Amino acid sequence: MKLILLGPPGAGKGTQAKMLTDYFSIPQISTGEILRTAVKEGTELGVKAKVYMDSGGLVPDEIVIGIVAERLQEPDCQNGFILDGFPRTVAQADALQTNLAEMDKTLDRVISLDVDEEALVERLTGRRTCKDCGRGYHVKYDPPAADEVCDACGGQLFQREDDCEQTIRKRLEVYSSQTTPLINYYRQSGLLTEIDGMQPIAAVQAQMLSTLQAN
Ligand code: AP5
Ligand code: MG
Ligand code: ZN
Repeated sequence: MKLILLGPPGAGKGTQAKMLTDYFSIPQISTGEILRTAVKEGTELGVKAKVYMDSGGLVPDEIVIGIVAERLQEPDCQNGFILDGFPRTVAQADALQTNLAEMDKTLDRVISLDVDEEALVERLTGRRTCKDCGRGYHVKYDPPAADEVCDACGGQLFQREDDCEQTIRKRLEVYSSQTTPLINYYRQSGLLTEIDGMQPIAAVQAQMLSTLQAN
């Protein structure tokens, strides 16, 4: 299964990708997570990316295209992958197509999650993430059993730095100007399935699985 999850910040890409990873035993490739790890480790990539991420803008195409091209060569991508947060521009989508063609691979499906702007802001301001295993929570929609503690591993939960309202609004603007053209891009190639992301997490998951199993 070679899959792209498309959708604005807070649409539920990460939440759904984690579940699909378990279900299909294929890796989740989140460019956001790869970049956040680089920022945390203070690598050259991290130092460069931080400026863009803090402002809610996109990291330059050539950087993320290179990251994904390398990641797709890893042996765990042999049977498929879930791209979460990539591509985000037409240039990234074109580069992905070229890279996959060079590997004799083609995409199976692109799922786009649709969510209203105010719901996105509420989701992102209430999001919490485990610092150890990366599992995501929401204070209202998907709370941990004990406050600020991960159910899965007991790790401490934290709030992402770019999840303050001002940066969230900027990220939403950037999505609408730079990434929404990809909806038509993949519609034209016949790969797009749109799912109503306003449904509860489990309902979105069920719809995704039935779409993918029918593929
Ligand atoms: P990235 O990490 O990809 O962030 P994003 O796209 O802004 O998306 P999010 O991770 O915020 O949202 P999500 O859809 O994963 O939602 P989640 O499942 O967590 O990118 C961060 C930054 O890195 C970018 O701004 C950019 O600077 C840079 N970057 C990354 N990729 C790049 C690229 N390709 N090119 C250039 N720059 C790049 O859910 C959110 C919350 O809602 C959670 O609390 C969850 O519990 C809750 N929730 C989920 N689903 C539901 C539901 N159905 N109902 C109720 N609550 C729900
Ligand atoms: Mg995410
Ligand atoms: Zn955890």
